Amino acid sequence: MDLFEYQARDLFEAYGVPVLAGIIADTPAEARAAAEKIGGTVVVKAQVKAGGRGKAGGVKVVHNPEDAATAAEAILGLEIKGLTVNRVMVAAGARIAQEFYFSVLLDRANRSYLSLCSVEGGMEIEELAVERPDALAKIEVNPLDGIDLAKATEIALAGGFDTELADKVAPVLVKLYDVFKGEDATLVEVNPLVLTEDGQILALDGKVTLDENAEFRHPNHEALEDAAAADPLEAKAKAAGLNYVKLDGEVGIIGNGAGLVMSTLDVVSYAGEKHGGVRPANFLDIGGGASAEVMAAGLDVILGDPQVKSVFVNVFGGITACDAVANGIVGALKVLGDTATKPLVVRLDGNKVDEGRAILTAAGNPLVTLADTMDEGADKAAELASK
Ligand SMILES: Nc1ncnc2c1ncn2[C@@H]1O[C@H](COP(=O)(O)OP(=O)(O)OP(=O)(O)O)[C@@H](O)[C@H]1O
Ligand SMILES: [Mg+2]
Repeated sequence: MDLFEYQARDLFEAYGVPVLAGIIADTPAEARAAAEKIGGTVVVKAQVKAGGRGKAGGVKVVHNPEDAATAAEAILGLEIKGLTVNRVMVAAGARIAQEFYFSVLLDRANRSYLSLCSVEGGMEIEELAVERPDALAKIEVNPLDGIDLAKATEIALAGGFDTELADKVAPVLVKLYDVFKGEDATLVEVNPLVLTEDGQILALDGKVTLDENAEFRHPNHEALEDAAAADPLEAKAKAAGLNYVKLDGEVGIIGNGAGLVMSTLDVVSYAGEKHGGVRPANFLDIGGGASAEVMAAGLDVILGDPQVKSVFVNVFGGITACDAVANGIVGALKVLGDTATKPLVVRLDGNKVDEGRAILTAAGNPLVTLADTMDEGADKAAELASK
């Protein structure tokens, strides 16, 4: 999960990383009030989860509250890399002497952590990385050792800092690593980290990505989620504990086991080519259990997608036998009642397949069609979706 800059700022502050005052504002009037509260020169900054905000006109330095309101007016509603700015942060203005770059991230390829650092930070860092890659130090960080003062100094020196400056930034790099480790982040990036005219080191921008796999030990992370931006169907599925990913097509897919669902997507895509190019509408793995509740929750999410024209339920009975799955489907259709209006193609195989089929046949729901094989089911579901 990527955080907004203001959320990163708050985390930094909690870990003792030096930051300046920052107040969020959703309207020009709020921006004016924030600038009044902070006083003096402030910077109005677009809060979007994309880089290059400064270059897109999303960062403006102003010297009084009235201008802060005007700047907010211009920035709110702006589109930056396809994202609309709904919120700005009004931050205290720093008198910058020098801008640096620092980040620490999870290096999946090397199964390690990696720190990037350069004494030449700021908005041109992307160009620097391409044109003079040597000016951007890449130092491996052993996750067991982390970044202590000695390692931080090593990183800063490699990034081109002189010894005096390296000694000055090293304690801040240690604190930034504390954020990385303490919050189970996969990225902590500060660009720019600055030296002010009066000799302070400050983090003026922050990008943090949190590892969602570690959510269980960070109950406070849930509050950082951007509920407004989440796909409503994905949010609903998540709340029901389902593994659901929305896709662009017309055939809703339900299966048990990620591997089976993945192959179902392939088979439906293939079958769809013969039926006007219809495609899978989602990935949904209902996992081991296929009770009526889980099936109903899954169908409810899928049928809530207005693009869906048909649904293919593809289940291989293992520990959860086909009769239980069939009862789940019958129960789910009862629970959903009139809201279930789209045709369902069901393919069952494996443990207790005959019993399962018999249950569906006996229920006689006109929406349900049984298929003998996966290919046949995919073809039927694609055909129904193309009508
Ligand atoms: N609080 C501040 N005081 C003074 N100058 C600032 C402040 N915040 C940012 N700046 C200046 O604006 C520039 C751009 O700001 P920032 O790094 O936050 O956005 P950005 O780098 O354009 O966005 P992104 O990181 O999304 O690419 C900084 O390099 C710095 O020169
Ligand atoms: Mg930046």
